[in-house]
Amino acid sequence: MLLAAEGLVCGYGAADEILHGAALTVRSGEMVAIIGPNGAGKSTLLKAVAGMIRLKSGTIRLNGTAVERISARERARLGIAFVPQEANIFPSMTVSENLEMGGFLEPSATRRRVSALFERFPILAEKKRTTARTLSGGQRQVLAMAMALMVAPTLLLLDEPSAGLAPLAAGQLFSAIASIHREGTAIAMVEQNALAALALADRGLVLVDGRPVREGEARAMAADPEVRRLFLGQQDLPLAGGSAPGPTPHRSTAIATRPPDPSGPGPHPLI
Ligand SMILES: Nc1ncnc2c1ncn2[C@@H]1O[C@H](COP(=O)(O)OP(=O)(O)OP(=O)(O)O)[C@@H](O)[C@H]1O
Ligand SMILES: [Mg+2]
Repeated sequence: MLLAAEGLVCGYGAADEILHGAALTVRSGEMVAIIGPNGAGKSTLLKAVAGMIRLKSGTIRLNGTAVERISARERARLGIAFVPQEANIFPSMTVSENLEMGGFLEPSATRRRVSALFERFPILAEKKRTTARTLSGGQRQVLAMAMALMVAPTLLLLDEPSAGLAPLAAGQLFSAIASIHREGTAIAMVEQNALAALALADRGLVLVDGRPVREGEARAMAADPEVRRLFLGQQDLPLAGGSAPGPTPHRSTAIATRPPDPSGPGPHPLI
């Protein structure tokens, strides 16, 4: 097991607890989608794994080694990269400078990795001398992810990468995430867009009130009527590729066929 986080208890103040026994496991090269209502503790779970919050109790093992007591920077050195939900780029720096900041752990690899990332994300190459503040929302999210890739992580933690993006930009970002996954990087991704996340992921995890309430194979979870009713808010939506438990949809078509849903629950269907 690449990551095994269990029994996590933590919060932001002395008295409060936000995670009440949360758990997250990720196998090598696996992609896990984390879904759940607003305030469930999804971001807090990623922060705990990345080392941004001190645990009251619980264990976090990376390739069998306990990491719950080491700093965020040490965890980054061991291969954990975290893209937070907000404030994930340096707005006053150029695109190139942002990537160089992402490479601070291994300066000798910086130049090579920056050029590889410019090849992978041509939009960043086009804008390399542009101040990051002037990028579009989608371009900023690509930049934030590219910064995280500067450390060549084995585990990428993504917190709501598609938040605030128009469907086209979100689709492009999800394609980029899928290709990073295909190349072997393990990913744990929190997403409000639960259907799209489950379509990309191998496994799903539902977090409610700081506790894991369901975990399973992503396609089965996307087809589970109770999960759909509670967490997808799209009960009567036909599954891409046929109705459950029919043939499982091809991953990319599952995303492509996600219907625009103007009358639906809006961008936050999990509330
Ligand atoms: N920096 C903080 N200080 C104090 N409380 C916080 C802080 N960040 C989050 N919280 C609280 O912790 C709880 C869980 O927040 P968290 O951001 O982990 O939820 P989430 O599942 O990511 O929600 P969302 O879907 O809205 O992003 C919330 O009640 C929130 O108010
Ligand atoms: Mg959050």
